[in-house]
Amino acid sequence: MAAVLMGIGGFLPPKAVTNDDLARTLDTTDDWIRTRTGIRERRVVADGLSTGDLAVEAGTRALRSAGVSAVDAVVVATTSPERLCPAVAPEVASRLGLDTVAAFDLTSACSGFLYGLATAGGLIASGTAETVLFIGAEAFTTLVNQRDRTTAPIFGDGAGAVVLRRGEADEPGALGAFDLGSDGALADLLAIPAGGARQRSAEGGLGHGTVPTDDWYLRMQGRPLYTQAVERMTQSARTALKRAAWAVADVDWFAGHQANIRIVQAVAEEMGVPDERVAVNIDQVGNTLAASVPLLLNDYAARGDLRAGQRVLLSAFGAGLSWGSATLTWPDIKAEPVG
Ligand code: UT7
Repeated sequence: MAAVLMGIGGFLPPKAVTNDDLARTLDTTDDWIRTRTGIRERRVVADGLSTGDLAVEAGTRALRSAGVSAVDAVVVATTSPERLCPAVAPEVASRLGLDTVAAFDLTSACSGFLYGLATAGGLIASGTAETVLFIGAEAFTTLVNQRDRTTAPIFGDGAGAVVLRRGEADEPGALGAFDLGSDGALADLLAIPAGGARQRSAEGGLGHGTVPTDDWYLRMQGRPLYTQAVERMTQSARTALKRAAWAVADVDWFAGHQANIRIVQAVAEEMGVPDERVAVNIDQVGNTLAASVPLLLNDYAARGDLRAGQRVLLSAFGAGLSWGSATLTWPDIKAEPVG
């Protein structure tokens, strides 16, 4: 028994922000952003769009790709939920017309897609669900200080979704071997300090003190994170390959989390995956956290570069710290461009 991928979809909000757009209000340049990160533009939420809207659009496309109108559970991986409580997944399920199915959110930042795949696979393996709609959705630019040049250029908004069903381990689309890990001792390398139970607003009932404005936004220590990202993704991807009994030469596509093109290339180089097998779309979307890997897969599948029978190695790393990798043989499914 295995969880098998049967549909995929993605959605980007229409508003594009180029590096030159950012350079009008930030002390930065197109050249710095492109050479240090690989990003040329990113999409951002505007006109009232938020995480739930992106998730509904991506979910609609994934259900269409799978050719189904009902599932047993909806899981949303997000680090930018609509609100602290409740989770956004029940609202997404309701808006998709999925009635009263099981629905919950999962928070694992940029590794959310890998943790979510494992969780959705677990729901299927336990017999709790026959089919799961799993969506990575982020409006994370709303949590980034747009006056901070060290973080504002890096992130983008979007959503990617997959539908999984119960099937056999030797079928194309079956989720293969996983590796998941974390290091909470380094949580402060990438964190939003305020908004949770530890740091509430000055008006909070228990009066936890005045929260400085900056604490409501993302804080990132880029350099040490970069080093951790390369080490952890490489190690994790190697472990997943070993568990799947795949050689590096078996990998047709390395689909790594798009945090920085230099990180993706460094991991691929460490592993010996040649450039032509490294999937990249960060130039168009930036870092979309939990939406990153499914948007990447959707892009490559929609334009026919990712084909049925090809072997894919997925890997991601992010806040927590947390990371994960998995192997997957691509199934014969339809994918449409994100628009
Ligand atoms: O999603 C998963 C978690 N996130 C990551 O894994 C991110 C990992 N880190 C990175 O991708 C990179 O560290 C960054 C892209 C964030 C930064 O690149 P970097 O090559 O590590 O640059 P840096 O932070 O060391 O900064 C180099 C210089 C500094 O100036 P000085 O001190 O050398 O004079 C910065 O102040 O670049 C400056 N700088 C900028 N200059 C122009 C920082 N941000 C900018 C900017 N425009 N936007």
